[in-house]
Amino acid sequence: MIHLQAVHKRFQRPDGGWFTAVEDTSLSIGAGEIFGLIGFSGAGKSTLLRLINLLERPDAGAVIVDGRDLTSLSARELRRARQNIGMVFQQFNLLTNRTVADNVAFPLEVAGWSRADIAARVDECLDVVSLGDRARHYPAQLSGGQKQRVGIARALASRPRVILADEPTSALDPRTTQSILECLKNINERFGVTVVVVTHEMGVIRSICHRAALLDHGRIAEVMDVVDGSVDARTDLALSLLEAA
Ligand SMILES: Nc1ncnc2c1ncn2[C@@H]1O[C@H](COP(=O)(O)OP(=O)(O)OP(=O)(O)O)[C@@H](O)[C@H]1O
Ligand SMILES: [Mg+2]
Repeated sequence: MIHLQAVHKRFQRPDGGWFTAVEDTSLSIGAGEIFGLIGFSGAGKSTLLRLINLLERPDAGAVIVDGRDLTSLSARELRRARQNIGMVFQQFNLLTNRTVADNVAFPLEVAGWSRADIAARVDECLDVVSLGDRARHYPAQLSGGQKQRVGIARALASRPRVILADEPTSALDPRTTQSILECLKNINERFGVTVVVVTHEMGVIRSICHRAALLDHGRIAEVMDVVDGSVDARTDLALSLLEAA
């Protein structure tokens, strides 16, 4: 479903030099997988995630999602292809002056859906995240966990085959974290959506991921299988993350 082929991304530093955030990295994620990207701060997790929908454009390499090389698309084709890739953010990124329903409707309005189709799809998505009764509320009236559910409903709105989530639970307490992880797992199981989740917590990997890649200084140090919530890790770096969990 997702193939990163020798992707490379560097950023210019204030002093004019270059910093390599993702170095010559290849990774394949299968359809229907929940795949984790884990590593310490600055390892390149968010950059790698944002390469998947071309929020960051690679300096070299190919990004193939659902059979299409996104780097070869025109701006218009890319906008369409991105409707197939929902995104969930750590700080939720909701529009504060729009209701819950209108937040979920937003990407569909941008995509040019009819009002009737939008209304029906918003209802469906709010049901999936168990927020049907909050449609007319504003984000400020919601708990953190509820806000993230709105973020997930919005990501799901355009019926994407892939959802990218960048530390979706890092702003939440442990119990709310578990409910949001269950919500992502539920969407994966019900709709077969491929989920890529960035985290710095091994607990998130154990809890919902099928596999995970450990990133270190812009490179994949290890790809781990998760079986029944247990992770078999070979590198010292992975072991230190497991011990901290
Ligand atoms: N737009 C940018 N301009 C310059 N440097 C950047 C940019 N985005 C990321 N970087 C640098 O690239 C490196 C990797 O950043 P990235 O955000 O991918 O790490 P991360 O693993 O997500 O870290 P964290 O856990 O702190 O979110 C960092 O050193 C960061 O400062
Ligand atoms: Mg990050």
